[in-house]
Amino acid sequence: PKVSEEQLYRPNFHFSPKKGWMNDPNGLYYKDGVYHLFFQYYPDGNKWGPMHWGHATSKDLVKWEEQKIALAPDALGYIFSGSAVVDKNNTSGFGDAKNMPVVAIYTYHNPNREKDGKIDVESQGIAYTLDNSKSWTKFSNNPVLKNPGIKDFRDPKVTWDSKRQQWIMALAAQDRAHFYASKNLKDWTFQSEFGKDLGAHGGVWECPDLFPIKVEGTKEEKWVLIVNINPGGPNKGSAGQYFVGDFDGKTFTVDALFTKQLQKDKAAWLDWGKDNYASVSFDNIPDGKRVIIGWMSNWEYAQEVPTEAWRSSMTVAREVSLKRTKEAYILKNVPVKQLQTYEGKAIQKKINLKAENKVLGSSEIDLSKAILDLDLKKLTAGTYTFSLKNSLGEEVLFGIDNNSKELFVDRSKSGKINFGNHYATPVTKAPLDQSLSNAKMKVVLDKTSIEIFFNDGEKVLTEIFFPNEKFSELNLSTDSKGASVSVIAHQLNI
Ligand code: FRU
Repeated sequence: PKVSEEQLYRPNFHFSPKKGWMNDPNGLYYKDGVYHLFFQYYPDGNKWGPMHWGHATSKDLVKWEEQKIALAPDALGYIFSGSAVVDKNNTSGFGDAKNMPVVAIYTYHNPNREKDGKIDVESQGIAYTLDNSKSWTKFSNNPVLKNPGIKDFRDPKVTWDSKRQQWIMALAAQDRAHFYASKNLKDWTFQSEFGKDLGAHGGVWECPDLFPIKVEGTKEEKWVLIVNINPGGPNKGSAGQYFVGDFDGKTFTVDALFTKQLQKDKAAWLDWGKDNYASVSFDNIPDGKRVIIGWMSNWEYAQEVPTEAWRSSMTVAREVSLKRTKEAYILKNVPVKQLQTYEGKAIQKKINLKAENKVLGSSEIDLSKAILDLDLKKLTAGTYTFSLKNSLGEEVLFGIDNNSKELFVDRSKSGKINFGNHYATPVTKAPLDQSLSNAKMKVVLDKTSIEIFFNDGEKVLTEIFFPNEKFSELNLSTDSKGASVSVIAHQLNI
């Protein structure tokens, strides 16, 4: 019997809309015990179309429940990407003493002006909710930020700057970030531009995010600017880069150490895989935690992936942290702790590696909802190739190449591959500074995705796949001698 696309490809725990097209996560915020995820949404087709904000909620950042559409296009245009903030002091005046508003700041994209070949297609609007996103009201005086004569002028991400008691908006303007400040979310004043000659510029900059974060193990605060870029990613297509520096309320300046890094590496990537785009962070998560979610696809093929009823899913929610070494600042990201609450009993084993090794089989674990901790020791020159396989011989390969000093993911034999651009080739690679003698990888597996968190999230690779039967075993082959892998595998009861 033919397996339905729903059975074969609907993720077990990554958020995907019931039907229709989805791209970027938008307006992420937390309030009253509920996490809110909005998303770029076209309900009436499975390709990009007139954009709405879809909506989903979660109590734990893991299980999501889709809600009704929050924002629909109006006379000013489609509702493009943006953010939401909990306006605790009612700076906007939309609420009252009893009711603090949540305010969404988003881009209006006007298709008529675009058709007429005008420059001023994009402007920024706001909307608010007083009932924690059950209903939304658009501001009567939109747009709040008019187009200054820049065609790509979008994706406002607003953060409260507590030192200066002001709202700061990071906005993508062609291949720069612009910063605006406001006291009330309605009147915005231009502060500065960032990005000339810094980082990757292979495409247009989109979905920026500026936020303060403590350097791990210290009291020092830095500011991180995430900038998504399409195309121009490290493995083709769309991807997210970041910058580390300081923000004085007006200007973002890259840190001296980070400048050195950029001289060597050109850009720092949040994720080296092909399928993590438009990652942005939640507003108002307690204890200064920064949690991000990304769109698990790539503009090179997102509209062609082999699902019909819906298209795309999100990454798992990830907590970010900033590490500083002598050589570099590293923005790490790992799955949020809440995912562990779904872990079943651990399967543990240690394998002294031969040329071919069985790591996990279908009688032990369902690899379409699992978390694996793989601890590799005594690595030498050579390659260590894990293969996630099914009985049809389809496979996703991933691992470490100590000869070329790279991590890799290869989905060229992973099932359905003939769609879009650069889906199957070239092999995805992430460079390593040196060959490795030890390596830790946390691997999150769903029916159609792999998220590899290397060395506590210092390098991350996220990719999707579409096998014709679900993957059921994990093997490891190597041409080196003497290494071992310790495996802790958990079924996710989800
Ligand atoms: C990024 C993006 C944004 C834009 C939205 C439109 O994927 O192009 O820049 O706001 O998608 O759907």
